[in-house]
Amino acid sequence: MQAVEIFQLSGPPSALRVSELPEPDRERPFIAGAGVKIDVRAAGVAFPELLQTRGLYQIKPELPFIPGSEIAGIVREAPAESAFAPGAPVMAFCGLGGFAEVAVAPEHLVFALPERFDFAQGASFILNYHTAYFSLVTRGHLQAGERVLIHGAAGGIGTAALQVARGLGATTIALVSSEAKREVAQQLGADHVLISDGPWKDEVRELTDGGVDVVFDSVGGDRFIDSLRSLRAEGRLLVVGFAGGSIPEVKVNRLLLTNTSILGAAWGGYAVAKPEVCRAIGAALAPMIESGVLMPLVGERYPLERAADALISIEQRRATGKVVLEVGA
Ligand SMILES: NC(=O)c1ccc[n+]([C@@H]2O[C@H](COP(=O)([O-])OP(=O)(O)OC[C@H]3O[C@@H](n4cnc5c(N)ncnc54)[C@H](OP(=O)(O)O)[C@@H]3O)[C@@H](O)[C@H]2O)c1
Repeated sequence: MQAVEIFQLSGPPSALRVSELPEPDRERPFIAGAGVKIDVRAAGVAFPELLQTRGLYQIKPELPFIPGSEIAGIVREAPAESAFAPGAPVMAFCGLGGFAEVAVAPEHLVFALPERFDFAQGASFILNYHTAYFSLVTRGHLQAGERVLIHGAAGGIGTAALQVARGLGATTIALVSSEAKREVAQQLGADHVLISDGPWKDEVRELTDGGVDVVFDSVGGDRFIDSLRSLRAEGRLLVVGFAGGSIPEVKVNRLLLTNTSILGAAWGGYAVAKPEVCRAIGAALAPMIESGVLMPLVGERYPLERAADALISIEQRRATGKVVLEVGA
């Protein structure tokens, strides 16, 4: 099969090569569990893969390895007791190995491809939407009617958080870096959209009469203190990622004085090993897919052999929505 490998930690494009490799073993998925072998039609590209090309992500496989944590495609082979028969269209989280013509995912992270989604949308769903739900609900206890500020709201996880928060009945304030991204967030139904190099903290406080209930922060960096200042007393800030590059530090007297909380939200490390959690989140999201509230926004599509260009687009902050590799297209 054809696959993209990371073979050195020099960043895109030089870290990547396209290779002819043996198909993966269904008995040995990267994440423990009964493996389902899938003919890949689309693979989602995310910020962690960019970090992996430089050895900067927390998961550091031995070189060379096939990146790609999520896919959509057709089941080729499944365990005897599986709910999925050969030929079934599915979306799946495989952890690694997704930038390939064939990949293996554990059964508890395979879901039927919703009729409303094409393969690219299926490959855009699990990582971002499960993380968004896990962060907002499991960790953040978001309630209908609360107000949420979402950083990077036109990006991969940002567009997912925006849709999930809307689906939960929250009021959404999207923060983006450009007018083009403002349009994207508006089209997705954000109640308010603010620009990140403006006086957004004051605008948030004005819009909400004192601050939001929840901040969804996948950017980190030097905005962090202003994120805390955007919270109302007793508000919650969800630490989801550091796309801005630096990991913020905070003097905790800020939390004490306002009774605010900072909560970590790492979906992968927590949920992926827990089939019951994955199924519960999948079941909670299903009605929102059914009603059309959750509709992954696919930005750029590249063929497998242009994986490096897909990562460069993320690196250069050009990407809107999810970047996807179309396999066999
Ligand atoms: N906690 C978890 O379980 C979990 C799961 C998935 C992803 N993540 C993390 O979430 C973050 C976002 O991932 P993603 O796949 O959604 O990435 P993405 O699609 O590239 O979106 C990232 C967004 O961050 C903003 N940004 C701000 N400063 C940036 C910079 N210096 N470089 C690039 N982007 C910058 C950009 O929005 P503006 O230009 O509008 O500011 C961009 O749209 C990553 O740190 C990733 O590791 C965490």
